[in-house]
Amino acid sequence: MIRIRRATQQDTERILAISAQVWDGNDYVPSILADWLVDPSGELLVAEVDDAVASFAYRTWLLPGHAWLQGIRTDPAYRGRGVGRALSRALIDRAWRAGAARISLSTYFDNTPSIRIIESLGFERVASFVFLERTEEAPPLPATADPGVAEPTPDEAARFILASSSLATARGWYPFEWLFLPFAARPEAFLEKTPYRIGVRSGDGWRSLLCASPGRGAGDASFLSFLDGDSRDFAALVAKASRDLATTTWESMIPRRGEDVAPALPSLLELGFKPWQDGSEDVLCYDLVASHLKGCSDA
Ligand SMILES: CC(C)(COP(=O)(O)OP(=O)(O)OC[C@H]1O[C@@H](n2cnc3c(N)ncnc32)[C@H](O)[C@@H]1OP(=O)(O)O)[C@@H](O)C(=O)NCCC(=O)NCCS
Repeated sequence: MIRIRRATQQDTERILAISAQVWDGNDYVPSILADWLVDPSGELLVAEVDDAVASFAYRTWLLPGHAWLQGIRTDPAYRGRGVGRALSRALIDRAWRAGAARISLSTYFDNTPSIRIIESLGFERVASFVFLERTEEAPPLPATADPGVAEPTPDEAARFILASSSLATARGWYPFEWLFLPFAARPEAFLEKTPYRIGVRSGDGWRSLLCASPGRGAGDASFLSFLDGDSRDFAALVAKASRDLATTTWESMIPRRGEDVAPALPSLLELGFKPWQDGSEDVLCYDLVASHLKGCSDA
């Protein structure tokens, strides 16, 4: 029998033990678990089977009424018994009851168990991205002349992003690691996730923009959330960001829907960023909406 309840501090050890068995121990949950446990507006649930914690998952809010689900993990010893499905249903039911009108999440394209649960519960795919990483093995970035890199104000950066083809390809979702934010709803608040922002001016406006954030811990890859504009600026922007953030390793999510590809993709591949697959979209965003709401930009 499966029993679902809120997680407490006493579950920490068990949650960490489950997390350690996922992705060769490279799960991000340990770095964020303490925050989840004390989050007054979010909800971390565990599913118990025969009094043992078998699975956990977390819900937060992107916006009032717009929930985000993440971090579902089932102990490998308990997988395939319906625990993940039961926990997902509970998280969703409780999100509706807490006032959600819309629930979103992201997953990887080959995560069959996850996609079976999500799609059978009515979630629809609304956006897709290519996950890229630049590792220590990548060749050094090429030397480039400074095209006149400067720092835009938050308002200038927000306006650039809102008008960009990248955000259109992303159907309005702004990536921050595996979290995707409905940018138009709160541009300046969401920009705070990516405090490092540089660009190249053109007349009164900007012709290129890069937005990034440093890794959470020492040695963690920096995250490139946004790169768009004149592709001739991209190498210089990435090189300056790498110097300023003192990083050689990067992760990024680049919007792609089939042939509709954000302009940064070819440039980043040339700069030594590599996809896990063949460069086609592999990270998928899903939405479950309460009524007529469809598409991120309607939020
Ligand atoms: C995703 C995960 C939480 C599912 O947990 P679970 O407790 O095994 O889930 P369930 O038993 O409810 O199974 C869910 C569905 O996946 C199917 N499934 C389970 N294992 C599968 C496998 N190896 N291959 C194909 N389908 C599988 C089940 O049949 C079920 O589908 P159905 O109800 O239509 O038959 C678990 O696989 C996991 O912890 N994975 C690692 C972490 C992860 O990927 N998290 C999600 C990130 S978005």
